[in-house]
Amino acid sequence: MVGGEFLSEPDPSMPETLPVHVPATTVARLRAEARTERALSAPLPPGELSFSLRRGRRMLEDPLGLLLHCHRRYGPVFSLRLLTLPTVWMIGAEANHFLTVSGRDHVSWRDGLMGEMIPLIGDGLLTTDGEAHDRARRLIQPVFSRRALEGQITLMVQEVDAALAALGPTPGTVDIYAWTRRLALGIALRGLFGLPADAARRERLGDSFEAGLGFFYHQQWTQMLRGPGSPWARMVAQRRRLVALIDEEIARRRREGAAGEDVLSRLIAAGEAGADRLSDTEICDQVLTLLFAGHDTTTSTVSFLLYELARHPRELEHLLAEIDGAPCGPEALFDGLPHLEAVLAETLRLYPAAWWGPRRVRTSFDFAGHTVPAGAMVQYSSWVTHRLPELFPDPEAFLPDRFLSGAVAALPVGAYAPFGAGPRICVGKRFGELEIKVILLRLLARYRPELAAGYRLGIRQAPTLSPREGMPVRLLPRD
Ligand code: HEM
Repeated sequence: MVGGEFLSEPDPSMPETLPVHVPATTVARLRAEARTERALSAPLPPGELSFSLRRGRRMLEDPLGLLLHCHRRYGPVFSLRLLTLPTVWMIGAEANHFLTVSGRDHVSWRDGLMGEMIPLIGDGLLTTDGEAHDRARRLIQPVFSRRALEGQITLMVQEVDAALAALGPTPGTVDIYAWTRRLALGIALRGLFGLPADAARRERLGDSFEAGLGFFYHQQWTQMLRGPGSPWARMVAQRRRLVALIDEEIARRRREGAAGEDVLSRLIAAGEAGADRLSDTEICDQVLTLLFAGHDTTTSTVSFLLYELARHPRELEHLLAEIDGAPCGPEALFDGLPHLEAVLAETLRLYPAAWWGPRRVRTSFDFAGHTVPAGAMVQYSSWVTHRLPELFPDPEAFLPDRFLSGAVAALPVGAYAPFGAGPRICVGKRFGELEIKVILLRLLARYRPELAAGYRLGIRQAPTLSPREGMPVRLLPRD
């Protein structure tokens, strides 16, 4: 595989407990990129391939604007050099469908930029391909079935109510991003790991996880630094700590024979029988992957949703009329709240937290009149597709009615893809949607959101879309 060479160079500075598929030193990495580019089996599709610091900066500050501009100029397939790295972008409904469904065998997740996460989360669903991925997916998918999730509603309600109680009757202005982030981590640690609210283990695991994830919020150039004291070294140390904590938890469950409904217990049980068994290392990487994938995505979605509701009082009133008095049970949460569904869907159209799907081309393919060669980095983007006026008229406007009127359902397949699509569609979609709905139902029963005076939304794009400076929201008691 041409592209595999890039991320597979063993890094002698890496501890042996980590997988070797990680970026090597800065110089080795740049050399590997150049070698991979020279080995491409055909020229990249047309686009902007000169080196440009300005473009690199714009990609960090306004990726949506840059990619929409290139789409208008070059069409659905174009190339962009981002600092030294040449990338191919495929935009639109057909492109989304191709990279997630019909053409997915041409591409690898692990060898694309998703592989950057391996040093923290290891070899889980997000960073593996082929049989290794499919076997784990077969085991994990049932944990997120509707029936299995019904058992998680009570604990979600308890966690949300505790977080609301901590706000008190007149919370004033709250950074809703920070508040939800802590809450979502608590829900994940309880739902995924079965750790009760008062367990010290939960605090340690949560703190280490946040500290490890902090690496990906650093400026890109500081992420390239290596050596003692670098963000990289701190992240590697946190990974080691997380693995030790999770191993300890797995051993404890085995010793005490404690079986629960949480994801970790189910994976341990699945690891004890059957041909598809997972080793302890695999279990550890899978739970870290779920924690990563399910934590910031739901947090950002709740924040963006409250932001839009605060700016659209009419939508807020419609929603309150629907949810006031609605039971917080499975019937309502899964199927019974169409306006809430529409508000959530429109929020995910405007701000799909996992906004791009990075891949590496394994075998060349032709798309929309261009050849995309083996070895190239290629990505689809739901965010950019969701802002195309030919698919979503008035694309910048927050209009939940699009989802109620059936207009979105009539769009071509692939047009709306906040959870990806195909066999690798987000495995935690139901969990995430359920969690977001429980948070909203409980929060909006007590408070009306209003944006803090002078607040202007800035969006950070990595590792997922989130409000750049947090989100100060005034929570006004409803009665
Ligand atoms: C609003 C919340 C969420 C959004 C918008 C979201 C979005 C996505 C997207 C777009 C993908 C596919 C990426 C691609 O094609 O490259 C994905 C995959 C994934 N998501 Fe989510 N996600 C959310 C919540 C969750 C939650 C709560 C969990 C776990 C508890 C989770 C776990 C995963 C995993 C493990 C994958 C990889 C699946 C595979 O490759 O088989 N996600 N998610």
